[in-house]
Amino acid sequence: MARRVGLPAQGMPAEELLQAMRDMKAQDANWRGGRTWSLVYYAGDEHTRVIQDAYNLFFMENALNPTAFPSLQRMENDVVAITASLLGGNDETAGTMTSGGTESILLAVKTYRDWARAMHPEITAPEMVLPASAHPAFLKAAHYFGVKPVLVPVAADLRADVQAMAAAITRNSILLVGSAPSYPHGVIDPIEPLAAVAKERGLGFHVDACLGGFLLPFARRLGYPVPPFDLSVDGVTSISADVHKHGYGAKGASVILYRNQALRNYQFFVATDWSGGVYASPGMAGTRSAGSIAAAWASLHAMGEDGFLRVTRQVLETTRRLIDGINASDGLHVLGRPDASVFAFVSDDADVFAMADALERRGWHMDRQIMPPSLHLMVTPAHEPVVDRFLADLRAARQEVLDDPSLVQQGVTPLYGMIATLADRGMVNQAVLALLNSIYSS
Ligand SMILES: Cc1ncc(COP(=O)(O)O)c(C=O)c1O
Repeated sequence: MARRVGLPAQGMPAEELLQAMRDMKAQDANWRGGRTWSLVYYAGDEHTRVIQDAYNLFFMENALNPTAFPSLQRMENDVVAITASLLGGNDETAGTMTSGGTESILLAVKTYRDWARAMHPEITAPEMVLPASAHPAFLKAAHYFGVKPVLVPVAADLRADVQAMAAAITRNSILLVGSAPSYPHGVIDPIEPLAAVAKERGLGFHVDACLGGFLLPFARRLGYPVPPFDLSVDGVTSISADVHKHGYGAKGASVILYRNQALRNYQFFVATDWSGGVYASPGMAGTRSAGSIAAAWASLHAMGEDGFLRVTRQVLETTRRLIDGINASDGLHVLGRPDASVFAFVSDDADVFAMADALERRGWHMDRQIMPPSLHLMVTPAHEPVVDRFLADLRAARQEVLDDPSLVQQGVTPLYGMIATLADRGMVNQAVLALLNSIYSS
């Protein structure tokens, strides 16, 4: 039964309601102390204050119609141009900001669907070919826009399997997808060969660099081996990069870039005959947050190249310490050879979901993955001071699970075990829907 909550009869005094919110917040995961391994990309208090001030400066404005707010138009164009300059763009490159990685991906898929409708009207049931590791935002887009997703298992190194993807192309294919890097295993797909296949077959090719877009260019400058993955690769026709991830902006900021304006036109929506006037909108939303655009602009300018090089080095060195520490631990190993700031690891002898519960009892917020059951870490500057503590807790958690087999029957372990292994995925879907309904209880 949902909690009954109504509007208070009398407005609450500001201090009272803010205190109530602070009390609620006290129960939340501690991202500032590096206790979360996803969700919040934190580059320190000083940087956070700058983007917060920038957000507040544009708190009330609306980016729906930037002609009313030339400042927003300028900042959005600047953020897109800076992103293009980092990701192999040229004078032809055209993009927009969106509210996040998912919106960028939704828009890319919609763009290619509408491009194909115009250029290939013979295709009535469009398909896109994806590595199985591609972010679920592509499946969401497939679901929303009626494009059939053709999922291709990844190769043994967990990267997209180029030959298998080429073989999955049919007369109905409109789009190929690769990630730089993929979320589940943090590996960069072979973008150059995939782009060559896409070009040869006349398909669009979207690179999901939502995670890597503001990390890989700096990793390369620091001397890390980063294969070509962006618009500099012939055949890549669009790329997404999230300012609210390793661009360290406020939530609600991503960039989608296309090879040219002609392609971007398929993203835009225009209603010419509405009684409310001509209505034009670049993305999924109508009203758009000006704060997240301002914070994105502030973040890129506050960081500058030197700031990005510094935090990228910090993130990659911290990631390396974690990977080496896990691989050196009894019964644990990292999957594949991660290229960036995210990775997953498994245990050869202990149940990883029970280990996650044991880590959560020690104050860590853990992310569980399936296929295979594994734990996932996303590393930010906040994690540099907690590496040794985490590794010690991780080893202790494994030992605890080995010593007490009943832990596999406790906490959320049985639920995750079922989600990971149940052959009937329809039942898993029902179980997760029930979970969602219990979370969104009103
Ligand atoms: C590779 C990749 N693509 C897309 C997304 C979706 O981004 P968002 O959660 O901002 O919608 C994520 C999120 O983690 C991601 O890692």
